[in-house]
Amino acid sequence: MNVPSELLAKIDEAITHYPASKRSASLPLLHLWQEHFGHVSDEGIAWIAAKLELSPINVLELVTFYPMFRREPAGKRHIRICRTLSCSMAGSYELKAAVAKAAGIDLEKWKHEQHGGHGNPVAVSPDGKFSVEFVECLASCGSAPVAMVDDNFKENVKIENAAALLKLERSDATLPKVRPAHPREKRIVFKNIDREGWTNDIECFLNDGGYAELKKALAMPRVDIVNEVKASGLRGRGGAGFPCGVKWGFIKQDEKKPVYLICNADESEPGTFKDRYIIHQDPHQLIEGMIISCFAVGAKLGYIYIRGEFPEGAQILEKALAEARARNFLGKNILGSGFDCEIYVHRGAGAYICGEETGLIESLEGKRAYPRIKPPYFPAVLGLYQCPTIVNNVETLCDVKHIIKMGGAEYAKIGKPNNTGTRILCVSGDVEKPGYFEVEVGSVTMGELINDLCGGVKGGRKLKAVIPGGSSAKVLRAGEKYKLKDREIGLEDIPMDFDTLAACGSMAGSGGVIVMDETRDMVETLNNINEFYAHESCGQCTPCREGALWMKKITDRVLAGGGTEKDPDTLKSVADNIAGKTICAFGEACAWPTQSFVLKFREEFTGKAQKAEPPPMPPEYTSDELIEHATIETILDRRTNSPLAPAATK
Ligand SMILES: Cc1cc2nc3c(=O)[nH]c(=O)nc-3n(C[C@H](O)[C@H](O)[C@H](O)COP(=O)(O)O)c2cc1C
Ligand code: SF4
Ligand code: FES
Repeated sequence: MNVPSELLAKIDEAITHYPASKRSASLPLLHLWQEHFGHVSDEGIAWIAAKLELSPINVLELVTFYPMFRREPAGKRHIRICRTLSCSMAGSYELKAAVAKAAGIDLEKWKHEQHGGHGNPVAVSPDGKFSVEFVECLASCGSAPVAMVDDNFKENVKIENAAALLKLERSDATLPKVRPAHPREKRIVFKNIDREGWTNDIECFLNDGGYAELKKALAMPRVDIVNEVKASGLRGRGGAGFPCGVKWGFIKQDEKKPVYLICNADESEPGTFKDRYIIHQDPHQLIEGMIISCFAVGAKLGYIYIRGEFPEGAQILEKALAEARARNFLGKNILGSGFDCEIYVHRGAGAYICGEETGLIESLEGKRAYPRIKPPYFPAVLGLYQCPTIVNNVETLCDVKHIIKMGGAEYAKIGKPNNTGTRILCVSGDVEKPGYFEVEVGSVTMGELINDLCGGVKGGRKLKAVIPGGSSAKVLRAGEKYKLKDREIGLEDIPMDFDTLAACGSMAGSGGVIVMDETRDMVETLNNINEFYAHESCGQCTPCREGALWMKKITDRVLAGGGTEKDPDTLKSVADNIAGKTICAFGEACAWPTQSFVLKFREEFTGKAQKAEPPPMPPEYTSDELIEHATIETILDRRTNSPLAPAATK
């Protein structure tokens, strides 16, 4: 196979980023291959496997797991449209149809490739000029609906501009914008986001006092940095809210094995769009936070695991890392301190489960992102390459810089006890002014967030429900009452902090707040969420793999007019059999929406009931009957329209 020298040089360079294991270079090599050849052929798989001293199956299993890799060419221009909740509420299904029409693509022709909701087909125009694909949340829900044209990002796409989208040459993501903070905000991490005159290069950052905290930290004993972070009370901003200093404390100060630090920049929880802005507009803040964190935990090597759908973000980080290296903020003997540290960017490839820290680690090792069982595989004990590893979210690592600046005790004065610091709340859905807001944790209530910061529910309509912490969080219904220790409050009175949201039966999660007005159909909403989880389950655990799909199939059936009175109970039973019974917390993430929607909006499910009983499901057949009744779907070769698989058995 003739591999051009330019590509070969990039491949050889990528492999050097993984001194402990060449296999880790699998995803980067697949990206490079696909970028060059347009898809990953059998020959490509064999070549990459040989290069990394793997079996071809080790590479093939990645191509079939990660949705961004293609076995067949896409169009010359590839358009990805976000399918997930906030975008679908803003019309992304209609947008996809309009884009396909403008591109001359007959979506009906590609329908047979959508197998049970798990299909992710790339539909190509007959002339091969364009292709269109639905993808899951692109982390820009506040400017829904969003699309990507090749690597260019387009926000707030209007259906009437579908044809213009095909010609898009520039990305919106890095266009300079100026958006002053709302008076209720306290900008610390987002101080430079959408700031007038701000650029993401190192000069701008240095002129603003950048890397001063790194210098300060390098002069401190490592254990003191860990203690400052403990004193700050900082809780992880990735979703679980685990205290950052406590996590760091699990790493022995005299650890003999290599220690790794990974920045989780996978940002894929629907409704969440904060890390992307930091990466695009203020990459040095993150890098400075990471170097300080590496020093504190004794890590000489760090990785930024960035989701594959952020190609611009990856490039911006690469450039920023090169700038930091050139100034000796990275590399050998940083600023004469004797500390050596290197950080590399590692791109994912479209799988949400890579956000789960142990799935992320498997993925970084060059495997399918199958989460590991905890215990024993707590990353701080047995993480990357079975070595102690700290995984922290982008926002958490940025906070570290500010904790060093102001001291842990001062930081702890911001926010509330046990809920310290600021949080970036991302609001999308049915509000007048969706967007991000950095506020002191717990300083605004849900009502203030929606009505004051976001200008109220769209069109003056009534509030119906809110998902407060990313699509995995349990839905809260307007009019509900929540009993706290000292009082009873309503939805709009909930202070947006970790503990109160948990006490109200949901969670602060990743800070993604999705608002729904009175016109929203809750079965449709849940169906959209279920589609996401059915698509994203890694498939290791039977309850999650099968249950997520069944929940989606049942809500599909209800929407198609086949609803029954038993559906809410059946849905609840499926969800109850997932939560708590799986390897990773994706199980809860996919069960909680169904459990809460069915509990709180039962009447909308029963209101669609046409019959008392559901239709017979496969378990009601004997296996012989199943074989007797089975029809094997005929799969057509879309170029010739002739069958690829045997025709139906009956
Ligand atoms: C299904 C699933 C998806 C997740 N996705 C993300 C993600 O996209 N970004 C993130 O930072 N954390 C995500 N997490 C949480 C991580 O597992 C981990 O707790 C986090 O990165 C730790 O960083 P923190 O302590 O700074 O929050 C996810 C967890 C689960 C169970
Ligand atoms: S719970 Fe779901 S996503 Fe997590 S390991 Fe099991 S199958 Fe995979
Ligand atoms: S960007 Fe579309 S739902 Fe998040």
